[in-house]
Amino acid sequence: MSLSVKHLLGIKDLTPEDIDLLLRTADNFKDVLQRPIKKVPILRDTTIVNLFYENSTRTRISFELAEKRLSADTINFTASGSSVSKGETLIDTVQNILSMKVDMVVMRHSASGAPHFLAKHINAAIVNAGDGINEHPTQALLDAFSIREKLGGLKGKKVALFGDIMHSRVALSNIYLLTKMGAEVIVCGPPTLIPKHIEKLGVTVSYDVRKTLEWCDVANVLRIQLERQNKPLFSSLREYSLYYGINKELLDSIGKEIVIMHPGPINRGVELNSDVANSKHSIILDQVQNGVAVRMAVLYLLAGKKDEAFG
Ligand code: CP
Repeated sequence: MSLSVKHLLGIKDLTPEDIDLLLRTADNFKDVLQRPIKKVPILRDTTIVNLFYENSTRTRISFELAEKRLSADTINFTASGSSVSKGETLIDTVQNILSMKVDMVVMRHSASGAPHFLAKHINAAIVNAGDGINEHPTQALLDAFSIREKLGGLKGKKVALFGDIMHSRVALSNIYLLTKMGAEVIVCGPPTLIPKHIEKLGVTVSYDVRKTLEWCDVANVLRIQLERQNKPLFSSLREYSLYYGINKELLDSIGKEIVIMHPGPINRGVELNSDVANSKHSIILDQVQNGVAVRMAVLYLLAGKKDEAFG
């Protein structure tokens, strides 16, 4: 019962068996997190660096909490305030940190492929916490965990990804994971935010929000990533909200139960209105809560520990 990979660089590299193992292991850690003492001693001899070259709230706190719950020693590195500003390279930075006997690296970077590059140069296990517009594998795992928890499984479930598919690493990781696990996926947004030939990944493209909502069991609404758009790809946020935003009036008019998800941070009033984000349909905060158990599973399985995890 081990993963087929040494690093978690992306969902693309995982087998369905890996994903199943990760989700089942996360089930056990979710149980651990319900106990009065939420900590297990599994990684007490392991030191992990959280290397964040790009901003984060949820992912960074979630990894740090997962590490602490596993009794690992943790170090937090952010590029701002470090010697990166003096011109130190990524490999030099990481090799210096690893020379202090660090065992695992969790890394977020604005450059797509940065963790893959690093994996070729260092021996420690690497977990990709989001690389540019490429992948965000632990987000897709926690999304899958949350869908499975809410709907009982992934196979045959109809999942729609709404919004800025072009710039979203969450979209790509979700597409890889959901199609590998037998879910049906539609991506829906303005034509300028849908990559050409995305159908080759096994998804269907829609430009019609209402029809897509009528079809889906789950709506995973993604953030408009203005910081990744070199030039505007739609006329205004107001217009985007009008044609592609999801609000309560629209959702109520569909007349069926739809699970609403969002990876965060939400642009409230743009892709999602507060009356939906805060509604009974939303499992957004469950996603965040599940992220800790999922990241504990990732770290545990990559560390290759086989001891008193769930005793
Ligand atoms: N979902 C997510 O990655 O959020 P952060 O950017 O806050 O980590």
